[in-house]
Formats: sequence, structure tokens, C-alpha cells
Amino acid sequence: MPSTLERLDCSRCDATFDAGRLNTLCADCGSVLLARYDLERAARTLTPSALAGRRTDQWRYEEVLPGSHDPLGLGEGMTPLHEAGALGRALGLERLFVKDESLNPTGSFKARGMAAAVTMARQLGVRRLALPSAGNAGGAAAAYGALAGMQVDLFLPQETPAPFRFEAVVYGARVHLAPGDIADCGALVREGTEREGWFDLSTLKEPYRLEGKKTMGYELAEQLDWTLPDVVVYPTGGGTGLIGMWKAFAELERMGLLRDARRPRMVSVQADGCAPIVRAFERGEDTAERWKDPWTYASGLRVPAAVGDHLILDALRESDGIAIAVSDERMAEGQLDMARCEGIFGAPEGGATVAAARALTERGWIRPGERVVLFNTGSGLKYPDIPGLDVP
Ligand SMILES: Cc1ncc(COP(=O)(O)O)c(C=O)c1O
Repeated sequence: MPSTLERLDCSRCDATFDAGRLNTLCADCGSVLLARYDLERAARTLTPSALAGRRTDQWRYEEVLPGSHDPLGLGEGMTPLHEAGALGRALGLERLFVKDESLNPTGSFKARGMAAAVTMARQLGVRRLALPSAGNAGGAAAAYGALAGMQVDLFLPQETPAPFRFEAVVYGARVHLAPGDIADCGALVREGTEREGWFDLSTLKEPYRLEGKKTMGYELAEQLDWTLPDVVVYPTGGGTGLIGMWKAFAELERMGLLRDARRPRMVSVQADGCAPIVRAFERGEDTAERWKDPWTYASGLRVPAAVGDHLILDALRESDGIAIAVSDERMAEGQLDMARCEGIFGAPEGGATVAAARALTERGWIRPGERVVLFNTGSGLKYPDIPGLDVP
């Protein structure tokens, strides 16, 4: 069964757009576009029994993905959902899980979004891609761009750890280092887009990275036998994964795939040194002001402004969720706890979810018997060190 993609709807105004054309943000109001499917038709073939015989990557959900008749695949998705008993005991949680996204191609969940976005860009005739990245998205774009035979120009903040730069160059991308943060890199992409004939692959500025990332939500449901956990803890930079999962839960419910309609409380974790979503959430605001002088060693969380801020905040509030900031020190402890209890060398962003779960359990916001999923969004191997860790 091919994709049932029908159109793109603006997330703010009433405009809709033809999915058969190359689209970026809403041409009327500049907001994020969301892919809409014929879910009634999709539900006829996307069933638990049909899934049992399908390919074991994210493209198994082909009805609800774009371009799935001819996808670019490197084996992205269907990452393990580990029962994390020892880490749970350390945190005071009886039913803790870690969704380990470090096993994706290029070592992070960014592979999911890039597989979908580059698939669609190729099908719509794009030859040259450009994007700003904190590192992991750049590596993934470089790999899928190589697979698609496209030129990729990457703009990375100057401080981006060397392994991310190395990886992108190995895949043949052109790497440009820029002073400032990822938002400054985004401005350079915007400036060059027309001159260079690039397609801007910035997250949420095109509609399909979100679609790839939403498969994390489909997998959670499938791996938990068509139920959802009580709490999902997600390290939030641009927030695409969180927005994507929230969209996936709504689609799953519309297709009648969930055994019960209860949705998880969503938790956005950010760093003390860059927490625009936490600040906006706590102030009751609908959008998030740009964070000045962002800093954290979790480079994926060094995102001072998110294009989809209103969508993240909506998902947190609709789900009865929360946003919480953790220090780099606690994040580092979380990374070590995950590695030493569960054998998973996660990214600092994954460590941040451990720190957040600990803090929220201590506060009583998470109860000991609840089913909690932490997202380890990437591998720790690409980050050169962990603050406070002595290595001989
Ligand atoms: C390992 C890791 N975790 C989390 C994030 C944040 O992801 P999102 O933009 O979906 O919030 C990033 C982004 O670069 C990342 O590399």
C-alpha cells in the first residue's frame, strides 16, 4: 500500500498546500506545515497483523509516510525499547524504559527525519541541500544526501565537536563553520538559498523531517502492544521529535490502533544554559523568546529559538506535561548512570532525560509505578568528553 499523503496544512492558519510540490513554510503566514493523510484509507491496511510481515525499519509504516513507494533507506528506525530495570531502581522507578536511538544509521534519531526529507526532496527534483546543524542532523543529512547523489552544504557552529565535522566530510558534505549558535547558522543558510540554488532542509522549515521523526511514536505504540506509556521524557532542541510523536499519537488514535485512548504526559528537557521552552512554559506563554548566549555541552540542546515553539508548548499543555531544565553536571551524571546501569553509552541529551526523570520523581510529578520512557536520542561516541570525568 503506497503513501496516503493528501496535502499539507498550515499549523496556524487555514491555508493548505499541494504535497506534490516543493514546500517550505506556509506561503500565507510563515508557519510550519503539517502533512495530512487519508487515515481512513491507511487504517484498512496498516494493521498489527499486516505489520508483522513487513520490513523492519521505519518505512514499515508506509501508509503514513511521504514518498514511501521509493524510500531512501539505511535501516533507520525500529530501535530497541529496553526495559531499564537497574536504571529504574537507581531513580526509584519500577517500570522504566530507554528507547535507544543511538542504534540508528549515523548514530542518532536524526536519521529518521533525514530519510523522509531527503526522500521527498529527491522525488521533487532537488539537487542541492543546505542546513544549519548542531552536529547530528548534519551527519544524517550528509549520509542521506550521499545516498541520493545530492550536494550538501552544512553550517555548523564553530564549537561543534570534531567527530561531527569529520563525519560530515567523510560523507562528502561541504562543511562551513560559523561563529555563534545554530540560529546564526540558519541565517547563513537563508542568505545563501537563492544565490546558491539550495533547498533549505532546516528542521520544520520543510514538512517531512517531522514525518520521519514521528515514527518514534508509532514504534512506541507497536513495541508496547498498542498502548502508550504514562510519561515520555524527550531532550528538546528544535522539538521536532516531540511534535512528531504527539502527531503520531493522534494519527494512531484516528486509525483505531490504540487499545486505550490515554496519551502520555510529555516532558521537554532542556539545559540550564539554554532553556527557552522551559521559560515560556513556566510563564504560560504561547511562543518562546530567543535565549541569549546559549551554552551546554549537549550540542543538540544548544538551540536558542525553535521554529515550532508553539507546537511544542501546545503538546506539553495538551498532554498535561511539563518542561524542565537540568544542569550540565546532572546531565553528565545521567550519561554515566545510563552507561553503568544499562550498558548504553548515550549522548549528553540522553543523559539529560535521566537527570530530568530523577528530578521529577523526587518532586512526586512522576510516580514510582508509572511507565516512563526516556529517549536516548544519540550515541555518546561523537562527543569528545563528559564534564568531570577523568580518563587516563
Ligand atoms: C542527540 C540529540 N538529541 C536531541 C536533539 C534535539 O532534537 P529536536 O530538534 O528534535 O528537539 C538533537 C539535535 O541536534 C540531538 O542531536
